[in-house]
Amino acid sequence: MDIYSNPQLYDSIHKNYKWDLTLIKTFAKQNMGSVLELASGTGRLAYPILELGLDYTGLELSKSFLQMANKKLKNKGKFFIGDMRKFNLKSTFDFIFIGFNSFLHNLTIKDAKSCLRCVLNHLSPKGKFLLSIFVPNPEFLYRDENKLYSATDFFQFENSQCRILETNDYDSESQINKLTWYIEKNGKMDSKKYKYSMRMFYPHEMDILFQEQGFIIEDKFGDYNLSPFNQESGMQIYLCRKQ
Ligand SMILES: C[S@@+](CC[C@H](N)C(=O)[O-])C[C@H]1O[C@@H](n2cnc3c(N)ncnc32)[C@H](O)[C@@H]1O
Repeated sequence: MDIYSNPQLYDSIHKNYKWDLTLIKTFAKQNMGSVLELASGTGRLAYPILELGLDYTGLELSKSFLQMANKKLKNKGKFFIGDMRKFNLKSTFDFIFIGFNSFLHNLTIKDAKSCLRCVLNHLSPKGKFLLSIFVPNPEFLYRDENKLYSATDFFQFENSQCRILETNDYDSESQINKLTWYIEKNGKMDSKKYKYSMRMFYPHEMDILFQEQGFIIEDKFGDYNLSPFNQESGMQIYLCRKQ
């Protein structure tokens, strides 16, 4: 099963995931204009932006996730079904962001370039673009493919205490990490499998991609507290503008 086919499960897993909220709110507030989120999911990050009174638009590939976002936010945001690799909303935005590693769903350099080109076309002249992804971590990527690893804390889902266990299989040539999630419910493994893939982007690749696609990197942070990026950073968070 596609991991993005079950919005209730996604929301149960991420109920307490709030580490990136301050970051997103800080930059949305600084720009105080229209906001576009790519891969907006079930509206987790839309909510705090709408609370600021900003004009919010979300673009999302999964229909069931988009429906959940509209339901939760009582149709206050504008959500569109679309693909971040190729979209044209026929308007520009003052702040565009792709949070929570969603950019890693661009599985090839071609997809990543096409996505960044679309972002550029939708950015207002003074607009800012924020992208947040983790730094590829060899300890995670090169784990034993046959072993199950704990991927989440315990959470409540369908009246059970659950957690996610995962396997991963990383191909260093394509830089694609294939993950499979299994739900453990009240200590028993559920038979369903959820699959997804992420391409790893190294910081030097991001520098080149931004430069080639017409962006200037204004700031590069290494965590959600906005510490400057360095060799030991676990995150790569870019704040960019048009060249
Ligand atoms: C990790 S979730 C993040 C959702 C939300 N932004 C959040 O922070 O909770 C990744 C999202 O990317 C969406 N997605 C994957 N590929 C996409 C694509 N090509 N275009 C648009 N959305 C995509 C998935 O459906 C999913 O909702």
